[in-house]
Amino acid sequence: MKVFWRVPVSLLLAAALSSVSCQVPVDGSVGGSVLLPCTTTDLQFLRVFWRDKDDNVVLNIQNGSPDYSSQNTRYRERVTSNQEEIRKGNFSILMKNLQVDDSDTYVCTIIPGGDERRVQLTVSEKVSPTSAAKTAGSSGGAAGPSILLVVLLAAVDVLLSC
Ligand SMILES: *[C@@H]1O[C@H](CO)[C@@H](O)[C@H](O)[C@H]1NC(C)=O
Repeated sequence: MKVFWRVPVSLLLAAALSSVSCQVPVDGSVGGSVLLPCTTTDLQFLRVFWRDKDDNVVLNIQNGSPDYSSQNTRYRERVTSNQEEIRKGNFSILMKNLQVDDSDTYVCTIIPGGDERRVQLTVSEKVSPTSAAKTAGSSGGAAGPSILLVVLLAAVDVLLSC
């Protein structure tokens, strides 16, 4: 009997996951740096806005150049982009000196058109190799078939929606 409701529950979970699935996951560690990707093949762009979840200005790109003066102080001297790359439609930003607080969803909006790229950044404390090995050894317990189904469905969903 239980088998019959497992499938719909899995579908519901997969649907819930899919609402946040169009985010590119990026991992970093405290003090390190990461590249948050945002590219376009349409070179008719005029402006590009990078924002964090609180709508702070992470970086604005106008007239083909990064405008560092409008940047929120939080990101000053830490977030940069490459002018040569901007010309090619690559608006990816480099975020340096990462803090745990930088873990957030960053949105790159391309004007006109308003195309959005979402990047989910997770910054973790540096983990020493020995404790990392311990964690890896103890995790990965038996996952039931319904869990596997959810993961599979979510993965298919990501592929279809992104
Ligand atoms: C985009 O530019 C960054 C440098 O800002 C570079 O590291 C990255 O490889 C470029 N990505 C692509 C797809 O060219």
